[in-house]
Amino acid sequence: MSDKRILLIVGGGISAFKSLELVRGLRKAGIAVRPILTAAGAQFVTPLSLGALCEDKVYSELFSLTDEAEMGHIQLSRQADLVVVVPATADLMARAVHGLANDLATTVLLATDKPVLMAPAMNVRMWDHAATRRNFAQLQADGVQMIGPVEGDMACGEFGLGRMAEPEEILAAILARLAPLARPLTGRRAIVTAGPTAEPIDPVRVLTNRSSGKQGFAIAGALASLGAEVILVAGPVSLATPAGVTRVDVETARDMLAACQAALPADIAVCVAAVSDWRPESVATTKTKKTVQGAPVLSLVENPDILATLSQGPARPRLVIGFAAETDQVETYAQAKLARKGCDWIIANDVSIAGTMGGDDNAVAILRKDGIERWPRTSKTDVARKLAETIALELS
Ligand code: C5P
Repeated sequence: MSDKRILLIVGGGISAFKSLELVRGLRKAGIAVRPILTAAGAQFVTPLSLGALCEDKVYSELFSLTDEAEMGHIQLSRQADLVVVVPATADLMARAVHGLANDLATTVLLATDKPVLMAPAMNVRMWDHAATRRNFAQLQADGVQMIGPVEGDMACGEFGLGRMAEPEEILAAILARLAPLARPLTGRRAIVTAGPTAEPIDPVRVLTNRSSGKQGFAIAGALASLGAEVILVAGPVSLATPAGVTRVDVETARDMLAACQAALPADIAVCVAAVSDWRPESVATTKTKKTVQGAPVLSLVENPDILATLSQGPARPRLVIGFAAETDQVETYAQAKLARKGCDWIIANDVSIAGTMGGDDNAVAILRKDGIERWPRTSKTDVARKLAETIALELS
């Protein structure tokens, strides 16, 4: 990594002090760090300590005669392999979304042609605000890689999501980003199911589950970005197909199973879909009308269990992973599911937590036969990235 360079923007938040630890890690890995300190950032870390650890000059002023003479801000924005914003405050994110260029940090973010990685950090209410959520989603759509935020204690005494990811995690993401050739899942084939299924009752009505498909789509994208060939079998959702992923759209559980089986053999199967457990025994060919006799009685039959079928089938993928969305006794039910379905891991999540279903965040635990690993609440894209990395490690 000795030829790599980071342009580090330190924003104005209490977690700015953690940027110093990140710099230490980067320097230890032999990576050059050129720092930009915002005016607000300078309220939390001093230019002297940042400059000393970076072993470089600290850039702060947009209209500095000396800096512009030595190196213009455009050049500054291009002379790195990666731009990293730590912490990315709500204000910095909002300005970056709108392409403002009213200080050196935002000007550089607008002028750079290099990938950008941000580690958001803010108070939980600021994170929860609709404006921040819009800005976060827009920056991701614009190609910014987000690390965190995670859940935890806040400097303001509150607890929740908004805490900055730890420096080691940011460092790991930077190292992974700087070594794009290390695509550990290259040559592996993965099947991912996502979204709900829709089981027709008659031509206009369906039996379905609540599922946005966000977590499954993020996992498909994360596996593809690590080099896997990914077949995403998706129920009816309105989400864009992640880059590098082959998508097969289905409606019913039986179609989903058939599409998965057609995609075999595979090394990995991740069943994230919220499959309808039952379907109407018969489907009316015309719309069922209201009658004076009252509501019709639906007779249901069981749908095939895709996860169990893949886990117990002849062409079993080497690693089969299921999800368990529960509203109570999450880990107990998940443990039972692991045994019943015959899969290797169950990712358990508590969907009783407001904002999990349909939202952008998730708190999960990975249950294996030999133990459990709990991950702090973070964005669904973060969960997907971590899961893809864990899968790559398992198959390595
Ligand atoms: O049994 P339960 O629906 O709680 O199990 C959830 C897990 O099983 C998820 O991974 C889901 O995708 C998978 N599943 C499946 N086919 C079904 C039911 C659930 O693949 N018919």
